[in-house]
Amino acid sequence: MMVDSGSFRKYAHDFVDWMADYLENVEEYPVKSQVKPGEVFSKIPDQPPFESESMDDIFKDFKDIILPGMTHWQSPNYFAYFTANSSYPSVLAEMLTSTMAAQCMVWETSPAAAELEEKVMNWLRDMIGLPDMFEGVIQDTASTATLVALLTAREKKSGYRINEQGFSGMERYRVYCSTEAHSSVEKALKMAGFGRENLVKVATDDALAMRPDLLDEAIIKDRGNGYQPLCVVAALGTTGTSAIDPLHAIGEICESHGAWLHVDAAYAGTALVLPEQRGMIKGIEMVDSFVFNPHKWMFTNFDCSAYYVKDVGALLKTFEILPEYLKTGTRGQVNDYRDWGVQLGRRFRALKLWFVIRDYGVEGIKEKVGSHIQWAGELAGKISKTGSFELFEPQNLGLVCFRYAPPAVTDIAQLNALNHKLMNALNDSGEMYLTHTKVNGFITLRMVIGQTSVTRDHVLKAWERIEKATASIR
Ligand SMILES: Cc1ncc(COP(=O)(O)O)c(C=O)c1O
Repeated sequence: MMVDSGSFRKYAHDFVDWMADYLENVEEYPVKSQVKPGEVFSKIPDQPPFESESMDDIFKDFKDIILPGMTHWQSPNYFAYFTANSSYPSVLAEMLTSTMAAQCMVWETSPAAAELEEKVMNWLRDMIGLPDMFEGVIQDTASTATLVALLTAREKKSGYRINEQGFSGMERYRVYCSTEAHSSVEKALKMAGFGRENLVKVATDDALAMRPDLLDEAIIKDRGNGYQPLCVVAALGTTGTSAIDPLHAIGEICESHGAWLHVDAAYAGTALVLPEQRGMIKGIEMVDSFVFNPHKWMFTNFDCSAYYVKDVGALLKTFEILPEYLKTGTRGQVNDYRDWGVQLGRRFRALKLWFVIRDYGVEGIKEKVGSHIQWAGELAGKISKTGSFELFEPQNLGLVCFRYAPPAVTDIAQLNALNHKLMNALNDSGEMYLTHTKVNGFITLRMVIGQTSVTRDHVLKAWERIEKATASIR
């Protein structure tokens, strides 16, 4: 029998109990799902049910079929990629959001959603120390935000002509980022019509941060060859090693060449709640747009990406379009966020952010993020003292990069194979989950300390597990 209002109440209560148990006991599940490719697919019938199935059966299958195929991102033993944090207040807000299921495309379709978004984006801007010349909007992901930045830069530079006439007869544009920048930059170039060949990847220094001297050189050379420098994407906290590009120097170069400066701080942006971390945004006044993901490190369920832009007029001119059915009587007096990005339909994402900020308080967020950074530093200290591991330095924020390098093994291929083996052994154990990157040809393991419920003990235990696992791979 289909769920009705009576049974909805019962199941909702049952599910909440399950949710609370899950979050309390999440450590008991293997962190990385242990299923084989195709295993879940083969357990699901090829045809949809002809008639209604009972929610008891559906929920049983969720537990029996789906749950084993889930990787548990909310486990405190999750150290992979960057975190996609959640938290109790965030989940509670998501319950309300999905219950109201509002589609918040324009102010009128839910005024509270629009006005709360405006307010929490101001809160967040102040919390991370961005100047109030920036206005914010919530995008789904940093990838979308970077695409939005490139499109806005393109339109502003072309006098909004490419939107109208396409690229024919237009100047040839180039975009710059470091060789360590996230792949979303390259993807955005493909989508924005520039072509991947017009992304110039600037080499990095020993810390894997962009070299501004080489950026300047590349732009000068391109200008000599008839290209227009459209945009530079600076990374604060690269995915591989959390390298921090020198924003001030890059900003000056952008100003001198008239290029838009977009900052991808998807991961590291949250650390800016700590005033001592704000050295990395020195030069922020030269930045045109900035993105960071509360859905990574700020305890807010995926998806929630905070995009800030200085010239809101340029953003709106790039994206607004006004068919008859979207004309409203309040236009011009309020923010209609459909004009602030790619999509028309929008989820009510501000609610979870509001719940998180109020439940934690700014101090609570600072304390947690500060602890993560401190434990990462402690772990890095331990690693640097062992004779058989090498720490990648500089170690930044909550990310610790290292490789197993027993002195007896000097061949790079052998070392890489050993590190792959070590990572697979740890991940297959289900006890923890970490991922890798490549630094100067060396497979390097990455451990991100930033999961909502991670404690210092989890970090120390993980290190114990790593050291112990080396015995099994030799
Ligand atoms: C530095 C950086 N930029 C962008 C992204 C893409 O983020 P999103 O999944 O929100 O598009 C990531 C993802 O990890 C990242 O690390």
